[in-house]
Amino acid sequence: MRLDDTYGRPLRNLRLSVTDRCNLRCHYCMPEEEYTWLPRHEILHFGEIAALVDLFIALGVDKVRLTGGEPLLRRELPRLVGMLAAKPGLRDLALTTNGILLGDQAQALRDAGLGRVTVSLDTLRPERFVALTRRTTHAQVLEGLGAAARAGFRGLKLDTVVIRGVNDDELVDLLEFARQVPAEIRFIEYMDVGGATRWTEAQVVSRQEMLAHLERRYGRVEPIVESSSAPAERFRLPDGTVFGIISSTTQPFCARCDRSRLTADGTWFLCLYARDGVDLRGPFRAGASPEELRALITGRWRQRADRGAEERLRLRDRAPLLQIGELRADPRLEMHTRGG
Ligand code: GTP
Ligand code: 5AD
Ligand code: SF4
Repeated sequence: MRLDDTYGRPLRNLRLSVTDRCNLRCHYCMPEEEYTWLPRHEILHFGEIAALVDLFIALGVDKVRLTGGEPLLRRELPRLVGMLAAKPGLRDLALTTNGILLGDQAQALRDAGLGRVTVSLDTLRPERFVALTRRTTHAQVLEGLGAAARAGFRGLKLDTVVIRGVNDDELVDLLEFARQVPAEIRFIEYMDVGGATRWTEAQVVSRQEMLAHLERRYGRVEPIVESSSAPAERFRLPDGTVFGIISSTTQPFCARCDRSRLTADGTWFLCLYARDGVDLRGPFRAGASPEELRALITGRWRQRADRGAEERLRLRDRAPLLQIGELRADPRLEMHTRGG
């Protein structure tokens, strides 16, 4: 089954947020002191998540990535992983985590059938980690990464959001670190998404600047030619090391975007930048049949015309997408609620 939107983009990649809670307060994602959380009774149970995932698989989804907030804060996550890993239609089941709880959970996740793990790591310096996240758990992140490698996860990735004046002097150190893990690192441009209330254009380090910086250190950086819907463009250093750059801010990939997101309370978003989502929990809990729910999803995807990041690019004087008041009134506008 292939379901296309108005630009011919298939529904293929589902990011599944399993909790809106997080145990870090990253400057680019959760810089505020207080947050409005999703009401507990609205959070989907594992059975509900699995049933919704079945609908998406029937409509062409074959990649699921578990996200948060911090997904490992969701109790018994390995049980959900087991339920999803058993679905024959899923070609790829992955997890994006800040790594803090991986030390405890990596083996159980692997045993449950998780395929891939991506860990967010913005700095190698403990004191900088504190400034960036307002927590002192840097050592646990590094331990968690080690535990994931020991548990046998192949294809580990590291995600680094690069911010000028904050961690842009660590590209080389991080690359060298990733090589040892071994993991493929991706440098991410700072995005003006919901929740990034401190975003300024001046703090964005562009893909072009990152490449220039790395070429000064390593010599010629070779682009790897591949056609994929993934946000990362991949490059190879002269010694063969591969890394990625995700340039959502200066060179968005909307034209190839096959991803949508389901929040922990069952709201389906067709774009990271979308104001509104489609409530799937309501009809599901009211007893809608699988056919009715599939028709709802199909109808909305066929009408999809979102190109959120490209629209942002056309703005002059770019400022944060949303004000604090709007985020407090609707937590689903937050990046940490729709899954980073
Ligand atoms: P794979 O390619 O399957 O390994 O995963 P991924 O790169 O899609 O997943 P990951 O969670 O590592 O995402 C990397 C980063 O890309 C995110 O943390 C975001 O910064 C960015 N990103 C993810 N989804 C979107 C999206 O829908 N739009 C834009 N513009 N950026 C996104
Ligand atoms: N800009 C870029 N990436 C972000 N993430 C969260 N907020 C932002 C932002 N403002 C992504 C990062 C992080 C993941 C969980 O979400 O990649 O590692
Ligand atoms: Fe940081 Fe991710 Fe937590 Fe946001 S959800 S504060 S990016 S660890």
